[in-house]
Amino acid sequence: MAFLRLDVSQIMCGIFGCILKSGDVAPLMRQALERLEYRGYDSVGEATVQSNKLFIKKDKGKISEVHAAVNLDDMPGSIGIAHTRWATHGAPSKVNAHPHTDCDNKVAVIHNGIIENFLELREKLEHSSHIFKSRTDSEVVPHLIEEQLRNGSDLLEAVIETVRKLKGAYAIVVLCSSYPDTIVCARKESPLVIGIGKDAVYCASDIPAFLPLTNKALLLEENEVALLTLSKVEITNSETGEVVSRAPFEVTWTRQAAEKSGYDYFMLKEIYEQPQAIRNALRTQRIYYDLVASRIDSADVVYFTGCGTAYHACLAGAYSMAKLAGLRSNVVIASEFNQVHTNLLDKKSIVVALSQSGETMDTLNAVREARARGASIVSVTNVMGSTVTRLSDVYVGQNSGPEIGVAATKTFTAQVTVLTRLAIVLSKKRGRTSSADTENLLEKLAQVPDAITSILKQQDDKVREVARKCKNLPSFCFLGRGISEVTAIEGRLKLLEIAYVPSLAYAAGESKHGFIAMVEPGYPVIFVAPNDETHSKIIGNIMEMKARGAHIISIVEEGDEQIKSISDDFIEMPRGIPGIMTPLAFVVPLQLLAYYVAVEKGHDPDHPRNLAKSVTVE
Ligand code: M6R
Repeated sequence: MAFLRLDVSQIMCGIFGCILKSGDVAPLMRQALERLEYRGYDSVGEATVQSNKLFIKKDKGKISEVHAAVNLDDMPGSIGIAHTRWATHGAPSKVNAHPHTDCDNKVAVIHNGIIENFLELREKLEHSSHIFKSRTDSEVVPHLIEEQLRNGSDLLEAVIETVRKLKGAYAIVVLCSSYPDTIVCARKESPLVIGIGKDAVYCASDIPAFLPLTNKALLLEENEVALLTLSKVEITNSETGEVVSRAPFEVTWTRQAAEKSGYDYFMLKEIYEQPQAIRNALRTQRIYYDLVASRIDSADVVYFTGCGTAYHACLAGAYSMAKLAGLRSNVVIASEFNQVHTNLLDKKSIVVALSQSGETMDTLNAVREARARGASIVSVTNVMGSTVTRLSDVYVGQNSGPEIGVAATKTFTAQVTVLTRLAIVLSKKRGRTSSADTENLLEKLAQVPDAITSILKQQDDKVREVARKCKNLPSFCFLGRGISEVTAIEGRLKLLEIAYVPSLAYAAGESKHGFIAMVEPGYPVIFVAPNDETHSKIIGNIMEMKARGAHIISIVEEGDEQIKSISDDFIEMPRGIPGIMTPLAFVVPLQLLAYYVAVEKGHDPDHPRNLAKSVTVE
């Protein structure tokens, strides 16, 4: 187990459940939540049961803030559930904090994940007189359980019937005042681990929650539901109804290793989280895309803005929107925005601002000025309730969960995913793509996570080998044509910021207008070379570099013998990824390359010198 990497699926909220033989559960739950705070931290809540009565405390804020305000340790009972939230649906607020309850305040539920069909479920439940208090997707769960209990199901049956109705990703933990000795939990796509202690049983989104309490753990697999009591853990497959038997294993990790799910650094873990991060980005309801596409379509002037990696995502998005939807737009680095561009804005303008943190000062300044000129603001961000969401007319959540490594990885691919989907929806709206082609493109986008999974499985060792070979080279150049220029400049930024290797990135066609003077035998030139419409031209660029003795490292499609034969090293990507989606896959080996070069050079990739995760100064 020590060297095993856990499946890093959905990393968002932290969840914990606990049954003790004796004593109060509340202080222990708060401590467990503190160990999970790295997963999410915009609001906190706990529920306990004593004498068949449910007690709840919850509020917006960090655990320490909420604890100071309401004393989370002061709750009765030796059974409880607890949650620290990373908002996706519904802004951070007391009412949106978990646990959520049914109409009778008997069933309490905490949830990590995104329920895609919550609008439809909520509408049906409201028709049958259920009263909703929050704006979250999660609240449908206690009401669905309530329905089943009313129909005569026991708690386990009610949860199984409920999860069968859910589409999307979930890890849920359920407490019910009529079952004061039982917790039921279930998962699909979001992780859930059970801890078996002496005179106690736990469940959590992640091992660190209970690691100081027990090192005996049991992983719940996809579509499994577990009934927990002090005397047994009973696992049922919710799809087949079969009871599953599974033995616990011994966790030998330290807490720090457990937080990283067995990866050496958060950055590597986050690179590996990308398939799930893209799936989560695609879980945002279609209505948001239709709304944003309509606004963009009717605007006279469209700008995209952001900083660093978010700016690169803007470049990729604007490229796709031009290519697919015929959109004319401007992409401007946020720190340069107010020099000239705000003067060109008015009420018929739209500014699409990208910011993972939602707090980058340069981006906020651009947005504030644009607003002052009457422009509409659309933002794409990872942090609900952040300043950029408050300044926006519409915002789209990218749903990546916290990104701890300073280098943006999963949040880049999630942002590009959001903008690619927007380009597809806009193109359909503008009549440039038929319904069938639109569905086909959306299907291709939905397949990208699997392509990335196979890249991670098959190319990680190869990239590490290239990194070892090249780790002492003083400089690199990244080249790409079309949308691959964006991939190249994003790859360069990763190498610069975490491995401190001064590097260049160019549109490959431009390289002969200057950069080529740098090339001497052995100089490493990385070509991002998908098999799209730029393929034949990039071969010409490779030959130009090769003729001057450059060391050619190419990122190519599987079976691209032509480019492989003229490369010194090559990394192969799955075939058939449409051109506009190639940055999502082709950036992955470049992220890995930067990571491995940094590690080989002895640098900490999670904490590059002089950089902050969120740059809140001008
Ligand atoms: O939070 P934001 O997306 O607004 O941050 C923007 C940049 O500061 C950020 O992308 C930065 O460039 C990263 N360290 C790049 O990896």
